[in-house]
Amino acid sequence: MKEKLKEVAAQAQTDIAACSSINDLLNAKARYLGKKSLVSNLYGQLRELPEADRPAFGQLLNELKADVEKMLKQRELELKQAGREQQDLSGFQDLSLPGIYPARGALHPLTLVRRQIEDVFIGLGFEIAEGPDIDDEFHNFDALNTPEDHPSRNLADTFYLENGYLLRTQTSTVQVRTMEKYAPPIYIISPGRCYRNDKPDPSHSPVFHQVEALVVDKGISMADLKDTLQNFAQIMFGQEVRSRIRPHFFPFTEPSAEIDISCVNCQGQGCRVCKNSGWLELGGAGMVDPNVFKILGIDPEIYSGYALGVGVERIAMLKYNIPDMRILFENDVRMLRQFSGVLQ
Ligand code: DAH
Repeated sequence: MKEKLKEVAAQAQTDIAACSSINDLLNAKARYLGKKSLVSNLYGQLRELPEADRPAFGQLLNELKADVEKMLKQRELELKQAGREQQDLSGFQDLSLPGIYPARGALHPLTLVRRQIEDVFIGLGFEIAEGPDIDDEFHNFDALNTPEDHPSRNLADTFYLENGYLLRTQTSTVQVRTMEKYAPPIYIISPGRCYRNDKPDPSHSPVFHQVEALVVDKGISMADLKDTLQNFAQIMFGQEVRSRIRPHFFPFTEPSAEIDISCVNCQGQGCRVCKNSGWLELGGAGMVDPNVFKILGIDPEIYSGYALGVGVERIAMLKYNIPDMRILFENDVRMLRQFSGVLQ
């Protein structure tokens, strides 16, 4: 009997392997497992065996049945797979399938804001000028009329490199480089990275960005500065925004001012963002100090000019409600993704 079972198993294996269609398989299934099949026959013969042998034989029969089922299933999978490969799918399009969206990058908010600022000034007739991040004391301090003992020169503020070089602490260096190279009229802005020996906190970062503007021409006055500032504030933050200049001191401007805009959060009513003052500080400005002109060979009797410098982080934080400057440098994709729809 056992011999018979082995024979059936071997035969099933060859037969099933030879099946070349699902139809063949169904026939093979009927032949081996159907009502009048070889295996059913063997079950019928169970009764003719001595009672003591029946359980062992029954078990062998069950195993045979399971083996044949497994062979059938396996061959079915093989046939289906082969069928799929043979099918010619060229030219077939399933229009109901959802599309594959390309992962879309986003511009960093600092890039967005820098570009917006550039657009405003380009619209006003300015050109973009650039200077190196690594500069020297002449361009960062001396030519900007900064006294030897000015606190900004301190090691605690400025990153000094070897041989008199430093990481620029302000984009005002580009004012100097532009006036060295070009004769007035000058209308430039200079966006760029700056470095200061500051600990990162909600409003400071050792690496940050400024945009500097410089105008040198005949008959330039503080009114021109105020006008440019007002235009800039309205285009960047909305028509209702007001601007003001407040007396201050910078070595390279005389008179000097700090520039404020009315609080974009409370429209000047007073809130947490503007510390109840109704105003937000954006940066510094002033009329170019005649000493700077003299150092750079421009005659202050003929020309006058204004300069201003604003912080890009500050503007990005105000525009996009970012509460902590460090968020801008962590590059958490959850933050960056929020800007993927902002095109510019
Ligand atoms: N460079 C100044 C700073 O980093 C900002 C500034 C003030 C720029 C007055 C100017 C200016 O052009 O006229 O604090």
